[in-house]
Amino acid sequence: MPIPFPFDPDITRAETLPARLYVDPVWHALERERIFARTWQLVGHTAQVQAKGDFFTAEIGDESIVILHDGLALRGFHNVCLHRAGPVASGCGRRQTLQCRYHGWTYALDGTLTAAPEMDGAERFDPRAFRLQPVQVAHFGPLVFACLDLKAPPLTHFLDGIAERTASLAPEHMRWVLRRDYEVACNWKVYVDNFLEGYHLPVVHPQLYKELDYDAYRVEPHRYWSLQHAPLRPLPPDPARAAERRYVPGDGDTAAQYYWCFPNVMLNIYFGQMQTNAIIPLGPDRTRTIFEWYATEPPVEWQADDGWRRLVEFSDAIQREDIEIVEAVQRNLRSRVYDRGRYAPKRENGVHHFHALLHEFLS
Ligand code: FES
Ligand SMILES: [Fe+2]
Repeated sequence: MPIPFPFDPDITRAETLPARLYVDPVWHALERERIFARTWQLVGHTAQVQAKGDFFTAEIGDESIVILHDGLALRGFHNVCLHRAGPVASGCGRRQTLQCRYHGWTYALDGTLTAAPEMDGAERFDPRAFRLQPVQVAHFGPLVFACLDLKAPPLTHFLDGIAERTASLAPEHMRWVLRRDYEVACNWKVYVDNFLEGYHLPVVHPQLYKELDYDAYRVEPHRYWSLQHAPLRPLPPDPARAAERRYVPGDGDTAAQYYWCFPNVMLNIYFGQMQTNAIIPLGPDRTRTIFEWYATEPPVEWQADDGWRRLVEFSDAIQREDIEIVEAVQRNLRSRVYDRGRYAPKRENGVHHFHALLHEFLS
């Protein structure tokens, strides 16, 4: 059992997380149990499960799950047959029953076992005692979330207040457009820390820095999520310099909302468009980041659309800048001379808030 780590709830006095939390496999295993097995994880989108029998599989930590539409609602199960642990689904598709891919035991869409071939000689074998083990499923707009812990509070408890704040942007009318995955050689928390502050903007993202009003940048923490305010800079009066700007401040951008939801999901919601990032730990120093875009009016083919191509290229460029710095940080977290640092109270309150939640869940 790892030693509890020190954490000061007062940011003006606090030191940052001990470096071992970012490199030691012991913490990776503990986070799997205490964070990822207990919180809501973004696993897919509603278009994948619209009709009765539509299903897709997903992973939370090392657990395989299957999400399906049973004709009335979304359901989720561990993708583990109760005979000898075969998978009852793979990939995605539409099936009216889940048949195990090992010996063919067959389950109905509500998880009950309906057929178990050649079990007739087995004494006191009662198929009713075998049901696929459920997981919790819920959706926010088009985003499907699942939670392994049946006792965890509902998704709305964790996202409390976001639906109201984003109502005018109507994320529920947005449809999936595209996905991009990146593998990053850092601990998932290094990536999240980096997302949660604008402090690195001037040095790491000079181009983006020109677009955003750095002085007005701030992070507003709530119970399980935080909201970043990053308004655009006013256009400079000099037309030549104004022409270099990629974003023009207008009514649309004032409505942009950048959420981070504990532990590992970012929801960037704009007028007519939404972008999600899911930060998936693969190991103590390996992380997958899944970027997905949604839009109220999705393009027929985003590659053929100039606006969308530019958007994705710009996002790629920013992501490359972030990847370079977080990978360098990850290497240095193993240094013999570094353990803990200090927070800039005005700029890193979002990081401190994340660390407070880590402390709450891990200790
Ligand atoms: S493991 Fe599923 S039928 Fe044997
Ligand atoms: Fe960044």
